[in-house]
Amino acid sequence: MISQAMSIPPVYIVQADLDAGAVIHLWLKSRRTDHPADLRVSVDGVELANVVTTRTEEFEFSEVELSQGGKAELSYNPSDAAVSLIYTFHPLTVRNEGICVLHHAAENAPPEVTDNYHFRPPFGWMNDPNGFGRFDGQVHLFYQHYPHRLRWNTMHWGHAITKDYIRWKHLPVFLFPSDELSKRDDGRGGAFSGSAISAAGSEGGVRVFFTEQMRDRQPEEQIQLTALSVDGLVATAPSVILPQRPDGLDLTLDFRDPYVFKGPDGYWKMLLGSRDKCGGVVLLYETLDPEGENGWTFITTLHRENRYGMTAAECPCMVPLGDINNPQTRWALIFGLLTSRDAITGRRNMTSVTVGRFNGRGFVPEVEQELDFGSDAYAFQAFVDDGGPVGIAWLANWTDVSKKDDFATAMTLPRRVLWDGAAVLTPPVESVVSLRHLALDASRLASGQQLTLESGAVEIELDLDAPGAPFELGFGHADIDLGVRLDADGLAILFTDRSRKTTPRYLAAGARPSQVRIFLDAGSIEVFADNGRWTGTKRLPSFAGVRSVALVAGCRAISAARIWQLKI
Ligand code: FRU
Repeated sequence: MISQAMSIPPVYIVQADLDAGAVIHLWLKSRRTDHPADLRVSVDGVELANVVTTRTEEFEFSEVELSQGGKAELSYNPSDAAVSLIYTFHPLTVRNEGICVLHHAAENAPPEVTDNYHFRPPFGWMNDPNGFGRFDGQVHLFYQHYPHRLRWNTMHWGHAITKDYIRWKHLPVFLFPSDELSKRDDGRGGAFSGSAISAAGSEGGVRVFFTEQMRDRQPEEQIQLTALSVDGLVATAPSVILPQRPDGLDLTLDFRDPYVFKGPDGYWKMLLGSRDKCGGVVLLYETLDPEGENGWTFITTLHRENRYGMTAAECPCMVPLGDINNPQTRWALIFGLLTSRDAITGRRNMTSVTVGRFNGRGFVPEVEQELDFGSDAYAFQAFVDDGGPVGIAWLANWTDVSKKDDFATAMTLPRRVLWDGAAVLTPPVESVVSLRHLALDASRLASGQQLTLESGAVEIELDLDAPGAPFELGFGHADIDLGVRLDADGLAILFTDRSRKTTPRYLAAGARPSQVRIFLDAGSIEVFADNGRWTGTKRLPSFAGVRSVALVAGCRAISAARIWQLKI
């Protein structure tokens, strides 16, 4: 259907057979200050649009809707014009079929990995999950996104939907930075993280909340906005709901990541992450407006955290761990501890989950635990779905991000958020079993043999002889030393990046599980012990994939070991 060809130089042509009503999104900039760039769109030889831009610094977005169907040709002169991205979709079928990428540049190309089963953007950079929720019956995931490179820059919101939390359809870019911000690629801000709720109006749809960041704006760099989308595809122009930080709290300029949720009193609540002289703070706002559009007022500083030398609390999120109408129900408050560093293990930017009582206006913490001992599950965001709370996180950590290098990222497997009466459990969603493509082994690994893995996409399930029975699994990998060990210290992901001087210890101190599930994929390892009582996520450099697995120690500790090859 799609083809790209150089016709008589210097015109570059992208071709596709498209139906009437198809929409094309494209980003174009000029290579010359003395000459605008143009891109012509024609169907069956009839020119329908000529997109022109004088911008030279950052790509300019344009949308073209085809009034007739047929053989579409998009042509431009590559010596005048640079095109970062062209995709198309039909609004009537995009929810089932997703967008179709017709062209991307080398700079924003997704990594070429096969059998990869983690969510990745179709192009460009991705960080935090945003607006994770079920709207009009469908689970949506929005995410922090820069479409033009594999590095963080001016933020947009990418968008995808799923029926099973595992298989995704990519939808058109949902939120765009303001005109002022989108002119330059200087990373001054954009549509930062936020959340979404079902729109209350009779037409349905989704209402999103997000921070607009604009560096050096006076007096506020970060303000809160909302936008409505009736069709769940296109957002209306956003409006400002919180133009400034609350007075009198002596907060730094950090004021971001609105997370909106229904409180036990039936009113919409909003959490925001910030910081004061003592450390990170989570702010609580409320509105009585059933639409969540107006009337947001500051209620209280809901929570403080200053451990590990953290600065701002980022991406706060709160979910009930039981029936919202039962006053005995505990709530889990989860947020990222920006710039935190655990002196014992060397891990950075940890995520904490605090369980306590929440009456809609105040939070009484009872238990605090680490959300993920691998620390590459940042900006975790959860919502209450039909079967209870489910969350997802960015499978990375700012510590490893370099401004100079490309850094293709993924999301973690979606996880349940459960309460066992004493601790929060975050097991993977049940539908991950649908990835089990082939049973590879049920006896050889347990008996001490090394197994060669054709594909690095595998799940390993270990039953231990007794809780905490010590063992060590070693994985063969081209670029790193990788393993999983359980011993008297606890459960650890053994990870050594040979190119780095020091690596943190990824340890769940004191863990004594009876069962361990390990998900390996090109670029990641996730460990879920005792149904997610201890969960560890580590991003792995390169997409080489694990080639083999063997028990390095503790054969007698393993009563059963099963391995599946996974395929999406
Ligand atoms: C967390 C975060 C958020 C911010 C976003 C910007 O990873 O720093 O606080 O909104 O990333 O992309």
